[in-house]
Amino acid sequence: MILIVGASGLLGREAAKTLLAQGEQVRAFTRTHANVDDLKKTGAEVMQGDLIDPPSLRRACQGVDRVLAAAHSIVGDGRYSSEAVDDAGHRALIDAAKAEGVSHFVYMSILGASANHPVDFWRTKYGIEEYLKASGLSYTILRPSAFMETHAHALNGKPLLESGKTTLLGKGTKPRNFVAVRDVAHYAVLALTDPKMKNLTLEIGGLGNFTNKQVAVMYARIANIPLKVSHVPTPMVKMLRLILQPFKPGVSRVMYMNSLPDDAFNEEFDPTSLLAQFPTRLTTLEAFIHERVDGG
Ligand SMILES: NC(=O)c1ccc[n+]([C@@H]2O[C@H](COP(=O)([O-])OP(=O)(O)OC[C@H]3O[C@@H](n4cnc5c(N)ncnc54)[C@H](OP(=O)(O)O)[C@@H]3O)[C@@H](O)[C@H]2O)c1
Repeated sequence: MILIVGASGLLGREAAKTLLAQGEQVRAFTRTHANVDDLKKTGAEVMQGDLIDPPSLRRACQGVDRVLAAAHSIVGDGRYSSEAVDDAGHRALIDAAKAEGVSHFVYMSILGASANHPVDFWRTKYGIEEYLKASGLSYTILRPSAFMETHAHALNGKPLLESGKTTLLGKGTKPRNFVAVRDVAHYAVLALTDPKMKNLTLEIGGLGNFTNKQVAVMYARIANIPLKVSHVPTPMVKMLRLILQPFKPGVSRVMYMNSLPDDAFNEEFDPTSLLAQFPTRLTTLEAFIHERVDGG
C-alpha cells in the first residue's frame, strides 16, 4: 500500500493515477474527502486526516509500505501556516512512518533547498530533508523546479489567454526552470518503485530556462494574440509584503520571494545529468503551451 499525502494536489493526483494504472494499492490522504472523489472512483482508498493532526498521520501510515509526501502550505496562514504544515506536520509524518514500519519515504522538496536560502520555505524543505535522512528510513528526496501548471500557466499564461492581459510581480526578467507535473510524477513513481532511487537526493527540472516575460511572449506567439503584460513594480511588491505580513503571512512570503533581486537565489536548472542517470522524454515548455492553447 502506498500512502500519498497531498493526493488531491497537482503532483499527488498525477502520481496516484499512474500508480493505480500500474496496479498499485493507493491510499489517498486529504483533509476533504470530495477532493479525491476521482481517485476513489479509480480504486484508491481515501483517508481523511490532516498534517497538523499527528494521530491521523499514525492511522494513515498503518499497513503502508511506502509514502509519498506531496503536500505543502506555502501560502497558508493561521493554523495552516507553513511552519505548522511544512515543518512540524512533515516531522510528524516522518515520525509516524517510522513508528508504523514504513519501508520507503519519498519527499517532495524543492530545487535549491538549503540551510541558508533567503526564503524560509526553502530552508524548511531543507530541514525536512535532513530530518528524513536522520530518521533511518529508506528515502528518496526529489527537488523539482517550478511546475509549469502553476508558474507558467496559472500565474501567467492563463490570464493572458482568458483576459488578454497578464500581470507580473516585478520585472519578470529572472531566468527560471519550469517542469511539467507529469514529468515530476514520472520521477515520483520511479522513486516509489525502483530500488535504484533509494537514498538519493535528485534535482528535477525541464528543458531550458525562461524568464516570466519570455513565458508570456511564448503564450502570445503560440495563441496568436497581442502581448499585454503589466508589472507590479518591485517597490510596490515590497510594500505589499509588509502590509500583508501580519494577517496573510503566506501571501506575504510570495511577495517577498518576488521582491528579491534576480540573483538572490538561483532558479535555473540543466537536466543533462538527471537524464543521463534516469532517462525520460521531458515535456518542453513550447509543447506544454501548445497543449493549453490548442486544448482550450
Ligand atoms: N508547485 C510547484 O511549482 C512546486 C515546485 C517545487 C516543489 N513543489 C512541491 O511539490 C509538492 C506538490 O506540490 P503541488 O503544487 O502539487 O501541490 P498543490 O497542488 O498546491 O496541492 C497541495 C496539497 O497539499 C495538501 N495539503 C495542504 N495542507 C494540508 C494539510 N494540513 N494536511 C494534509 N494535506 C494538506 C492539499 O490537500 P487537501 O487540500 O486535499 O487536504 C493538496 O493536496 C509540494 O511538496 C510542493 O512544495 C511544488
